[in-house]
Amino acid sequence: MHFKEYSTILVTHEEAIVTVTINRPQALNALSSQVIDDLGALLEVLENTREDDGGWPFRGVVITGAGEKAFAAGADIGEMTAMTPDQAWKYSTRMQAITLKLEALPVPVIAAVNGFALGGGCELAMACDFIYATSSASFGQPEVSLGLVPGFGGSVRMQQRVGPAVARELLYTGRRITADEALRIGLVNAVLGDQDELLATVRTTLAAIVEQSPAAVAAVKSTVERVEGLSTAEGLAIEAESFRQAFTTADMREGTRAFLAKEKPTFPGR
Ligand code: CAA
Repeated sequence: MHFKEYSTILVTHEEAIVTVTINRPQALNALSSQVIDDLGALLEVLENTREDDGGWPFRGVVITGAGEKAFAAGADIGEMTAMTPDQAWKYSTRMQAITLKLEALPVPVIAAVNGFALGGGCELAMACDFIYATSSASFGQPEVSLGLVPGFGGSVRMQQRVGPAVARELLYTGRRITADEALRIGLVNAVLGDQDELLATVRTTLAAIVEQSPAAVAAVKSTVERVEGLSTAEGLAIEAESFRQAFTTADMREGTRAFLAKEKPTFPGR
């Protein structure tokens, strides 16, 4: 599929993987209103595109940043300095809606962080299923140094990712951390040498996911999202429903049949 040209993001589609590159390297890929509009328009296209048989043509999404320096250095400070409180609320909620849509996609979304992931950039990365980073990447929520607070999900997702104590320290100090520290606290899954190694590792992981049942991967993602923050009993009830639902899928019939026949499954994807 060929995507239209957006003014602040580049979009490619190769072997069922959509790669989105935030493309404002001169501003370290800061998330301006235009970036938010472009991401919103792209997500609408992704959500509404179907194959002839009604299936979804994408199996994974990668988000990265253009240039050598940044994934995204945050919300656009130049724009924010002139915003009224109500405009700021709109800016925040528009980007938050995008983060929720990324979480609702039925395929994995991986952040390939190739430099600064600060403020809104770190928040965008945390809205992805997981994060891989280059060794020169850095992370942080420096909003307090600007008299600001996180607006694209950091107050919620940082503690989900690294636990409340470490999250509070990072949010209150605004401290920037290296990729290695981000790995140690569980914010990123892996640290790779450079951009090439980063993208190769993302591709290897996606290839491993693409071999699995698409229906099951979508169901696991949706279940993991829905149980977040619930009590154990509530979470288990949702998991049991998801388990029940799996038994209605052609993928489950094929996966279990192929196992017993000692064959490789060919998943129909539904
Ligand atoms: N918004 C707008 N422009 C930005 C930007 C941002 N978040 N970050 C960098 N830029 C611009 C700089 O103004 C500069 O532009 P000019 O060349 O026109 O001067 C250009 O990008 C290059 O930046 P630097 O010269 O500052 O590059 P550096 O290598 O010296 O420093 C940096 C890099 C440490 C990341 C530094 O740019 C920086 O601290 N940026 C701001 C990071 C930040 O505070 N992010 C959080 C924003 S608040 C937020 O995101 C709120 C929220 O949760 C929604």
